[in-house]
Amino acid sequence: MSALYEQLHLPSSSFSSFSSFSSLPSSSSPAFAQDVLDGLAHRQRRIPCQWLYDHLGSLLFERITQQPEYYPARTEIAILEQVAGQVAEAAGPHATLIELGSGSARKTPIVLRALDRPAAYVPVDISETFLASTTRTIAAGFPRLKVVPCVADFTRLTSLPPELPAGRRVVFFPGSTIGNLDPAAAEALLTRIGRVVGAGALMVIGIDHTRDPARMVRAYDDAAGVTAAFNKNLLVRINRELRGDFDAEAFHHVARFDSEQRRIEMHLVSARTQRATVLGRAFDFAIGQSIHTENSYKPSPFQFLAMAHRAGWRQEQLWVEGAAGYAVHVLQSVSSPSSSSFSSL
Ligand code: AVI
Repeated sequence: MSALYEQLHLPSSSFSSFSSFSSLPSSSSPAFAQDVLDGLAHRQRRIPCQWLYDHLGSLLFERITQQPEYYPARTEIAILEQVAGQVAEAAGPHATLIELGSGSARKTPIVLRALDRPAAYVPVDISETFLASTTRTIAAGFPRLKVVPCVADFTRLTSLPPELPAGRRVVFFPGSTIGNLDPAAAEALLTRIGRVVGAGALMVIGIDHTRDPARMVRAYDDAAGVTAAFNKNLLVRINRELRGDFDAEAFHHVARFDSEQRRIEMHLVSARTQRATVLGRAFDFAIGQSIHTENSYKPSPFQFLAMAHRAGWRQEQLWVEGAAGYAVHVLQSVSSPSSSSFSSL
């Protein structure tokens, strides 16, 4: 992996309690330990959703996207297939495509095929395994394309690999992944990415604007139980990496819609009174007590565009799939982010 551009700056706070985890298994991350121990100490127990994605979690997520109930993935693919030509026209020739959280990059070829002689493709992903296989797949499908993989947590990306060709940057951020951040973090991310890519860059971003709660809940609690397995895998990971003893079968996967916050929440709900230990610390659970493991915000198009505007992006194009309410936006970065403030809409 030495050819990969390395940009993973964990803030020093991630390590501040390292000494208290002196018996941490060598394969585990102090940041994971800290997030789990801190999160389980809250009244509403919570663990940040990034920890759902160990290797098995990433594979399970890929399977979620193939479930019939999970409309976002197939709706976005259908939109991209229809509009890729218009995106390519907006991008112009010799663009560099930068994909945030590239994962298996299933949708990338749709855009790459449409672009006029793209200069480079930069997949950005925290998982070296996924990045390596994505790089191989894209390089094989597009032999003349320069592929510059970037191992990074895109929420902390502060610069691009130095060896990129000149020309327009096009950020590709599909999957409604921005919805997994709370609104303040999402806006901060858009602002930071705008600064990284500079004025004139485009962003092609997919967002779920669905308004039908029942449809959303089904998408996050599929009949085959793949999302449940994805959620419970977090407990299995804690057991393996943080000397935990959770009984994953004694927790139910629950997806619920919070209409005030316009978000789907995933929880692991204790099926009985029980105690679990993590790194030697005990946590008692009452029946029905939950660990909140993920938010998936579903803003309205207007809410999203107001946020993008505050973050220094202006709208270029927008396609919405009516029944699903899923949208692909094309935004353009403007040099100085607006300081105007729209309150929550
Ligand atoms: C990655 N992310 C956009 C997915 C979502 O829809 O929030 C993760 C997911 N969680 C459960 N199902 C899918």
